[in-house]
Amino acid sequence: MFYSEDIIEEVRSRNDIVDVINSFVSLQKHGSDYTACCPFHNEKTPSFHVNRDRQLYHCFGCHEAGTVYTFLQRYENYTFPEAVKYLADRAGMQLPEHEMTAEEKRLSDYNQTLKDINKEAATYFYYMLRQEQGSAAMEYLKNRGLSDETIHAFGLGYAVIGRNQLYQYLKSKGYEDSVMIDSGLVRFDEQYGPSDVFWNRVMFPIMDLQGKVIGFGGRVMGDGTPKYVNSKETRIYEKRRHLFGFQIARRSKREGFILCEGYMDVISMHQAGFDNATASLGTAFTIQQAMLLKRYTTKVYLAYDSDSAGVSAALKAIPILREVGISARVISMRPYKDPDEFIKAEGAEAFEQRIRDAESSIMFEVRVASEKYDQQDPESRTEFQKEIVRIVSVLKSPMERDNYIESIAGKYYMDRNNLTEEINRYGKYRTEREQYEEAVRTETPQEIRRREQSESRKKQPQRLLLTWLVNRPKELFPQLEGKITPKDFSDTFLQELAEKLYAQYAASGAVNPALLINQYEDLEQQTQAASILQTTMKYEPSPEDDAKTITEIVRKVKMESVKDQMEHLSDMSQLQKLMEIRKEIPKWNISLDSC
Ligand code: CTP
Ligand code: MN
Repeated sequence: MFYSEDIIEEVRSRNDIVDVINSFVSLQKHGSDYTACCPFHNEKTPSFHVNRDRQLYHCFGCHEAGTVYTFLQRYENYTFPEAVKYLADRAGMQLPEHEMTAEEKRLSDYNQTLKDINKEAATYFYYMLRQEQGSAAMEYLKNRGLSDETIHAFGLGYAVIGRNQLYQYLKSKGYEDSVMIDSGLVRFDEQYGPSDVFWNRVMFPIMDLQGKVIGFGGRVMGDGTPKYVNSKETRIYEKRRHLFGFQIARRSKREGFILCEGYMDVISMHQAGFDNATASLGTAFTIQQAMLLKRYTTKVYLAYDSDSAGVSAALKAIPILREVGISARVISMRPYKDPDEFIKAEGAEAFEQRIRDAESSIMFEVRVASEKYDQQDPESRTEFQKEIVRIVSVLKSPMERDNYIESIAGKYYMDRNNLTEEINRYGKYRTEREQYEEAVRTETPQEIRRREQSESRKKQPQRLLLTWLVNRPKELFPQLEGKITPKDFSDTFLQELAEKLYAQYAASGAVNPALLINQYEDLEQQTQAASILQTTMKYEPSPEDDAKTITEIVRKVKMESVKDQMEHLSDMSQLQKLMEIRKEIPKWNISLDSC
């Protein structure tokens, strides 16, 4: 851990969750909570709740939950230390520096320096675009149909004609030659000395998730070559890990992402209202980029160029997306070359229709294959069918396979039974290893849901008991003494949470949910814990009914626990005692005063 628990708690307590979240999403007061449409999923009625007393948030729709730290980690994609730093700054607190090792500090400072110099360069390009020298560049962008607003939103700029204008500018700002060279903005030539990498080009800044500039693509204005010059990779700029425009797209309320090939495609899509468009950075789409997308969605539309290069790029992206569990659909740009041209010619409405008509990746793969084969020639047609078998075999679910077989058989006039038989046979020929991997991986979403439901049925009383303890600590803790200890929680996670809760109450005579959650480093665990601690009880009309409810919960938890202990008994002398407790449990009664 970077910072001590005391500091983490102090920073948290000085940043009210309602105020912090309200600075990102606008909250409305609603009873004892503040609510908004959830920033983590798309919805029309607000189910995102923030509670000031508990200092927690929770969405009843998508079950995102946590503290102010969790929020920043999810919403801004901050690491935990970054979230601490952000909130400390916000509260005007000085964080102790010495807690970072010297090496960590050196590296983090150098990354910062590289981001600073990129930002400085972006500012310079941005400014130059608006000067006399930049008028041709501005005209180029305007001719391509970009509005002032779009040019501003993407921070577009212009690198002037001249050998080392940027170099001189950065030097005047105090940057060392070595930093300029490391940043990829300046090259050093034995003969000529320092020179700018980008000359006379319109500049597209590439940003990280926080919108910090980490590199550039520079386009020639017109038909010159090379069309683009790009920043080299640096410690802060790894092409395989970043996506163009993603700092905006990740916040989009649209469903899924639209993956394009080019910078210009992304920009004109955004301008047309498709702010979920993004693109890889002039390199093939990578598994790291797929994983990044998967953090936000399971649906991606491919809007690649309609030429053969675009088709083969799409064929390569599909399995990568599939690998991380994203199902791809392919949008046809025909008869246009790319999304940019399509939007210009047909407009946003027509593009919406193309999204609705997007082809599933399987049907796309089959169609592309069909174009390679002569359907009139029996041999060629057999080859085509073999290819269909390979394509459809990646599907794990028999039902899904069957549906595709039906569509394909219908579309290409094939015999459904033959296809099914071939596909089943192909499945059998797969290696044992492949089959094994498939077996361990194959749990359909329905199966996962069913498994989770049955697990959660067992856990339910335990979860409820914790929720009650948070809601009515002063009444319940004393009455549970000698009855329920954290050990009675069979689920490891709930047991740990109970231990923390009991310890906190014992130490302070009160419960502080947000402080408890800080003790978890793992974001998933924070979310899980918060969703339990955040729940506000709906009380029954009478305290008697509440007492009945909680009594039942306490009895169930203990009963399960005793049963569990009996099953795992190592010492028979304990059996007697457990049987006595079991007899007592139905007589237990918990009383409540009133709310
Ligand atoms: N690209 C590159 N270097 C090149 C050509 C292309 O890095 N010499 C990358 C860029 O990221 C570019 C993407 O590949 O955005 C797609 O290329 P292309 O379709 O040629 O460029 P567009 O951005 O679509 O540009 P335009 O519409 O201006 O032709
Ligand atoms: Mn293009």
